[in-house]
Amino acid sequence: MNPILELARPDILSLQPYQHAAWEPSLERMHANEMPWRASGDTSIAGLNRYPEPQPAELIAHLARLYGVAPDNVLAGRGSDEGIDLLVRAFCRAGQDSVLICPPTFGMYKVSARIQGAGVVEVPLPKDRGFALDTDSVLDTWRSGVKLLFLCTPNNPTGNLLDRAAIESLCEQLRDRAIVVVDEAYIEFAGAPSLVDCLERYPNLVILRTLSKAYALAGARCGALLAHAEIVSLLARVITPYALPTQTIEAVLKFTDGPHRAESQRRIETIRAERARLSEHLARLPAIRRVWPSDSNFVLVDCVDADRILRAAAQVGLIVRDPRSQPGLGSSLRISVGTTEQNDRLLQGIAQTTGATLTFARTADTKLPATLRTANVARRTKETEINVEVRLDEETPIRVATGIGFFDHMLEQVAKHGGFSLQLSCSGDLHIDEHHTVEDCALALGQALKAALGDKRGIQRYGFLLPMDEALAQVAIDLSGRPYFVFDGQFGRDHVGELPTELVPHFFRSLAETLGAAINIKVTGENTHHMIEACFKGVGRALRQAIRVTDTQLPSTKGTL
Ligand SMILES: Cc1ncc(COP(=O)(O)O)c(C=O)c1O
Repeated sequence: MNPILELARPDILSLQPYQHAAWEPSLERMHANEMPWRASGDTSIAGLNRYPEPQPAELIAHLARLYGVAPDNVLAGRGSDEGIDLLVRAFCRAGQDSVLICPPTFGMYKVSARIQGAGVVEVPLPKDRGFALDTDSVLDTWRSGVKLLFLCTPNNPTGNLLDRAAIESLCEQLRDRAIVVVDEAYIEFAGAPSLVDCLERYPNLVILRTLSKAYALAGARCGALLAHAEIVSLLARVITPYALPTQTIEAVLKFTDGPHRAESQRRIETIRAERARLSEHLARLPAIRRVWPSDSNFVLVDCVDADRILRAAAQVGLIVRDPRSQPGLGSSLRISVGTTEQNDRLLQGIAQTTGATLTFARTADTKLPATLRTANVARRTKETEINVEVRLDEETPIRVATGIGFFDHMLEQVAKHGGFSLQLSCSGDLHIDEHHTVEDCALALGQALKAALGDKRGIQRYGFLLPMDEALAQVAIDLSGRPYFVFDGQFGRDHVGELPTELVPHFFRSLAETLGAAINIKVTGENTHHMIEACFKGVGRALRQAIRVTDTQLPSTKGTL
């Protein structure tokens, strides 16, 4: 037996766990008092009329692969919150045992201990040492009955990674005395390795991972507790029998695999880039005293007047976290990194509290608008799910994934020749056909471009072009606010790649609609691929001219566009 189990509550060690209905998928179920039919409209794979498999084998195997451990090292629960709760309940006797925490840190460690009637011993992370882990104080303070040491890395709300060697030394020195729980909720944003490869070395190490952060699944409620198999089996006796809902199991399997996983990775990179940009701009604001370095998807700031900043954020429709009740954080706020547009809105809101003016200089062109011309659009229908981000004053990144290769290539051409950054992902009902994907991508792109253009002050408004090879596309765009579309052209083929050619004019019509633009395209040529490419490139080039900011005037005599 792992000697660390001797730390567990004796009554839990001897507990006869609840015998849930046997999991025998090859047999028809008449043993769990369920309804034999699905609720009407139930589109889940397994059927919500059935209890889910406890600790579902497929999910456990999947999480084990995701985190690089063996399946018997994984306990899946409703978020890391459940892992914390299970540990406290299994190891701490009410009124006798304690947990040790290092504040300022995540609040649930203390709350779970209090609910269990366990004591809470605190060893602060010293602010004057950048909230670094103070191993000597932890060891000096440890006393018999402290069963769990909670370490959060990167730490919430300070944002910093704790020193790996320091954590390992605590695992070593507390080997038979306490479980070291390392909460890695934000590790994906740190660009640092997990401590998962230390699991074999330290039988008293437990790692908490969550799908709530990097995988964007907070609403699914799923986390993984990684530990020695014996700790996992002990906690499996305590967790409720059917802890994970069917929808959660299905959502996790779907959204952490294949293209979704690649998408998560890209988004992590975007958050890291935005974190750097947000931190840099915050640091320049007179209302902010200090921006703490962050390895997470949030930034801790010390403010001149935190109440004022909370009000300013609310005025621009945003809420940030107030952690001021925690030791050392009397003037701090915690800001989760948002979209570029949200971050800019917050920065502008904070800047206004002190009358500071913010310019997001991107090039030497002093005529660039003071606000960033960016927009994010998330469009969800039964047919498609689309996320678009455009940044009109940046040329990269350009990433498009719609599931239709040729269409991706065409949208990339629009952005490349338009001179703007475009990130567009679409998960659409391509098993039916391409129509919804093409149309909805156009609508979402038009919406994003329109939002990013804002009040259109200073733009050129019109754009034209006539390019390429034997094909000739003449494109005229007017960002007038009034949708209008004219197309003159005949394609010789039905499809190019997987893209039906009839959807090409349909795409531009839909784009014109949400962008609020007149788009006029005339195309001639012999090769359909060239003709289509000329249209997309032409629209890109025309947009490049039309969206360019060259002065501060509104290009209309009406006073509005
Ligand atoms: C450090 C830390 N651990 C755990 C959690 C809880 O995560 P979950 O959603 O997996 O319960 C949070 C949530 O914010 C957190 O910040």
